[in-house]
Amino acid sequence: MGCSWFVALNLLGACAALMALAPVARAQAQGGGNSSAPAAGPFVTRDNILLDCGATGQANDTDGRLWSGDAGSKYAPANLASATAAVQGPSVPQIPYLTARVSAAPFTYSFPLGPDRKFVRLHFYPANYNNRAAADALFSVSVPTANLTLLYNFSAYQTTVALNLGYVVREFSVNFTAPTLDLTFTPEKGPGHPNAYAFVNGIEVVSSPDLFGKSPPSLVTSDGTGQPFPIDATTAMQTMYRLNVGGNAISSSKDTGGYRSWLDDSLYITGAASGVSYGKDENVTINYSDNVPRYVAPEDVYSSARSMGPDKNVNLNFNLSWTMQVDAGFQYLVRLHFCEIQSEMTKPNQRVFNIYINNQTAFSGADVILWSQGLGSPVYKDYVVSTLGSGSMDLLVELHPDIRNKPQYYNAILNGMEVFKLQLNNGSLAGLNPVPSVVPTGPGGGGDSGKKSSVGPIVGGVIGGVVVLVLGCCCFFVICKRRTRSGNDAGVSDGHSGWLPLSLYGNSHTSNSAKSHTTGSYASSLPSNLCRHFSFVEIKAATNNFDESLLLGVGGFGKVYRGEIDGGATKVAIKRGNPFSGQGVHEFQTEIELLSKLRHRHLVSLIGYCEEKNEMILVYDYMAHGTLREHLYKTQNAPLSWRQRLDICIAAARGLHYLHTGAKHSIIHRDVKTTNILLDEKWVAKVSDFGLSKTGPSMDHTHVSTVVKGSFGYLDPEYFRRQQLTDKSDVYSFGVVLFEVLCARPALNPTLPNEEVSLAEWAVRCQKKGILDQIIDPHLKGKISPECFKKFAETAENCVSDQGIDRPSMGDVLWNLEFALQLQESSEESGSLGCGMSDEGTPLMIIGKEDPNAPSNESSTTTTTTTSISMGEQSIASIDSDGLTPSAVFSQIMNPKGR
Ligand SMILES: *[C@@H]1O[C@H](CO)[C@@H](O)[C@H](O)[C@H]1NC(C)=O
Ligand SMILES: *[C@@H]1O[C@H](CO)[C@@H](O)[C@H](O)[C@H]1NC(C)=O
Ligand SMILES: *[C@@H]1O[C@H](CO)[C@@H](O)[C@H](O)[C@H]1NC(C)=O
Ligand SMILES: *[C@@H]1O[C@H](CO)[C@@H](O)[C@H](O)[C@H]1NC(C)=O
Ligand SMILES: *[C@@H]1O[C@H](CO)[C@@H](O)[C@H](O)[C@H]1NC(C)=O
Ligand SMILES: *[C@@H]1O[C@H](CO)[C@@H](O)[C@H](O)[C@H]1NC(C)=O
Ligand SMILES: *[C@@H]1O[C@H](CO)[C@@H](O)[C@H](O)[C@H]1NC(C)=O
Ligand SMILES: *[C@@H]1O[C@H](CO)[C@@H](O)[C@H](O)[C@H]1NC(C)=O
Repeated sequence: MGCSWFVALNLLGACAALMALAPVARAQAQGGGNSSAPAAGPFVTRDNILLDCGATGQANDTDGRLWSGDAGSKYAPANLASATAAVQGPSVPQIPYLTARVSAAPFTYSFPLGPDRKFVRLHFYPANYNNRAAADALFSVSVPTANLTLLYNFSAYQTTVALNLGYVVREFSVNFTAPTLDLTFTPEKGPGHPNAYAFVNGIEVVSSPDLFGKSPPSLVTSDGTGQPFPIDATTAMQTMYRLNVGGNAISSSKDTGGYRSWLDDSLYITGAASGVSYGKDENVTINYSDNVPRYVAPEDVYSSARSMGPDKNVNLNFNLSWTMQVDAGFQYLVRLHFCEIQSEMTKPNQRVFNIYINNQTAFSGADVILWSQGLGSPVYKDYVVSTLGSGSMDLLVELHPDIRNKPQYYNAILNGMEVFKLQLNNGSLAGLNPVPSVVPTGPGGGGDSGKKSSVGPIVGGVIGGVVVLVLGCCCFFVICKRRTRSGNDAGVSDGHSGWLPLSLYGNSHTSNSAKSHTTGSYASSLPSNLCRHFSFVEIKAATNNFDESLLLGVGGFGKVYRGEIDGGATKVAIKRGNPFSGQGVHEFQTEIELLSKLRHRHLVSLIGYCEEKNEMILVYDYMAHGTLREHLYKTQNAPLSWRQRLDICIAAARGLHYLHTGAKHSIIHRDVKTTNILLDEKWVAKVSDFGLSKTGPSMDHTHVSTVVKGSFGYLDPEYFRRQQLTDKSDVYSFGVVLFEVLCARPALNPTLPNEEVSLAEWAVRCQKKGILDQIIDPHLKGKISPECFKKFAETAENCVSDQGIDRPSMGDVLWNLEFALQLQESSEESGSLGCGMSDEGTPLMIIGKEDPNAPSNESSTTTTTTTSISMGEQSIASIDSDGLTPSAVFSQIMNPKGR
């Protein structure tokens, strides 16, 4: 099978415009690619076996790779029951997940391929198979000929529930010495689980290039000495993470070294600042070499990077950090890929930094130009870190400028990162099943979900830049952490001065500040006398000393708590910023400044703030029903009716329209997404989180924003290209929200096939083909009048037009939505729609008439054949997921000159 020399026209946000035109990339995208240095030639994948377990015949997956059914295959055991998933989740591709092999007795797949290092990828979609419950599948997978245990007592069901995944892929790299690679699946029957069985949906065995033989990694130790740590050539590994840092996900068919998948790194960034990501300069070419052949990582990995940011003082006060969940008790090989891709980065000592792994120094004085011998030359470094204990833990990788030799820029860079778990001496690679945080209510793919969750319906509040979610193949719970290795004291000043510069509000605490409340609040000096000032003591009392059980959410800024003030009379949401976050201060100030001036029924109200003791605390109205997103998908809340959804969209549009036009100066929200639309106890929607808002261009013609901020999946592609912020950027994001409301899926879902990852792109494609009704929320099928649907879909489509000039104004959007509501109402009145929402399953409608339970996935099979290269313009923005990045707030994609 060939090597797909696919240097995708670049995906990366910041430099898409440049990259898309790069002639070099295009030339390499065509031919065999053996025109450059010999070592840079393609890796020939000798073995590339894709077994679709339980299936017959051949079929392409959504990535265009051809799978063969294992029925009658020489690799498959005989007489093994095949099964079809009882229900196929909407986000789960059919190939290879529709069918499985299932057995309560051990079985073995045998691959007589001769000794070699292979990638072994096991695909699992937990569902009910042949009347066996998804949760009963509990088994081990071993390679007896190499004494390896790949998985032990593995529960795919528990894993998908805990990590909120649709399906699980486990990738191992195994260099076996026997002539045959055997994979043995053994059900783990035990006292508690007598019905244990084993299943598998797909098996890949693909030749691996020699990725680990070049030079030994160095061992990370507390004394930082970095001794070489040779790894035996036959060591087996499990891939935990493979990230294209600062770039987009790369699908397996576009990889250069054994059909590996790369994810984007933004979900794993932690800390208050996520730096800037950018693509290579136009005239830089990636120059592979004997030391770093092309199969090490595709060009896309080296053509994009993440750096700290333009302000060296800020850079000195934080670490660029990634946190990844791993199994404790193993050693990990951490491979970091570097390549300087900005044309002015040509000399040593321009950018020098330290690398820390798990709080230990892995390397001091990293200088990519020194290592790689030049601009555009890739280099990678391997480190081995040991972990103790059992269960899961965080692996933390951090970069910080090294200023000992006074480099030109105080900055750091990273282009790619891989984390491999190394086998133990006893041949085991198996970790424990992750523990779900909430009691599951039923298998991802059907089965009974009898018990209702005991989790109260009231979880919500003001959650700015929040993350509580998880995605991707190797997911983990994002934990918002912050570390400042150096310059800690920079943020700490005397308790009195607080973090609000006095200048912001003119005369602070003037004589008309007076005790106005029994609780001891005094009227603040803020321009709007509606804004209260709280003492830290009051805040502590309101939150029961920041009781974790009152936590509503965690975000890039810090934590949001539920609280009560005025002796319990008023419920509030309290957002506590991280006192050391140099960048957070600005966002908090913006929010106070704006919110204290703005009052609108559809904007969340700021009640007050606290600035004592370096605290950055904001107090808001409590929004009892939480975020809009929590009512759309991955949720235990009842689905919203179409009517409710329209009302919410209209309210949010009204709030945004007011922002754009109602205030003295036009205000651009910049971070419109479903987690920033909150619902109060009466289901009235309000727009929240103004931390990124900016007064519009009308106010300040000279200002060109150099830093693109916002949340991936919602970002206006034009804003990326031109770096000019207009109110049409909010319109774009709002269009994504409209589609999200209609389709009940995240703005970005990296686990889906390429063309479906970005909701905006996918929905527009479906709309153009006239099949948008096929991807709407199954709960809405039959509930939307065709006229209303048409209006709503057109409005959403116009909102996400590529060019801002083609998008309607927020006022027009509002008008169109109101019109759509009228259309809906009139058709409900005329009775053509049954009785709206409560009428379960009345097949009255033309919209989405097909059975939502049917496992058909027609659209994805028809599109696979179009081998689409184009991650079109719109996906430029679609790097990340869900609007749930830890620090979406700081997703500064711009300014490639990150110094
Ligand atoms: C590329 O490799 C093929 C086969 O090895 C060879 O025929 C061809 O001449 C090579 N092309 C270049 C430009 O070296
Ligand atoms: C798989 O895709 C290739 C081209 O991408 C096509 O030639 C082939 O017919 C497809 N095979 C199947 C079984 O769909
Ligand atoms: C596997 O382990 C057994 C006993 O522990 C040993 O005899 C055998 O040589 C080992 N095989 C390999 C391939 O390491
Ligand atoms: C196997 O996993 C199941 C479910 O997670 C657990 O109940 C059981 O105790 C485990 N058994 C062993 C031997 O670890
Ligand atoms: C696999 O192991 C053999 C030794 O058994 C070694 O010579 C070879 O280089 C290894 N291959 C890879 C790709 O690691
Ligand atoms: C590459 O482009 C930059 C500007 O984009 C320019 O400053 C630099 O001189 C160019 N370098 C070469 C080698 O052409
Ligand atoms: C590529 O790297 C090699 C050495 O690794 C160097 O000789 C050559 O000049 C480089 N080519 C470019 C275009 O930078
Ligand atoms: C690193 O340090 C932080 C804070 O001191 C701590 O919470 C964390 O557990 C440490 N991580 C490791 C792997 O030691």
